[in-house]
Amino acid sequence: MSSTPTVAPFFIAKVGDDGTQVDAWPDQPLLVSLEQGGVDWPSSCRNGTCRTCIGVLASGQVRYELDWPGLSAEEKAEGCVLPCVAYPETDLELQTSSI
Ligand code: FES
Repeated sequence: MSSTPTVAPFFIAKVGDDGTQVDAWPDQPLLVSLEQGGVDWPSSCRNGTCRTCIGVLASGQVRYELDWPGLSAEEKAEGCVLPCVAYPETDLELQTSSI
């Protein structure tokens, strides 16, 4: 029997510590996928400036269509992300931020 590897059209985003996970579509902001998955994630401006939605990536990668979302280089280095303007590139784990 031959098996053809199938590539899922979306990634899996694990959220928080309780095992919640949602389908994270690469062509829409992570925040939208969270909401579609029933996750009550904070948001306000939805354009990468207010930082209400800030979270921390425990694993995985995102990309931004903005050159510089409202995060400092240090915050980015620590894994902070703004899900309203972050697009998933891999499966990922997102934690709420204590900032
Ligand atoms: S909702 Fe304002 S930065 Fe994400």
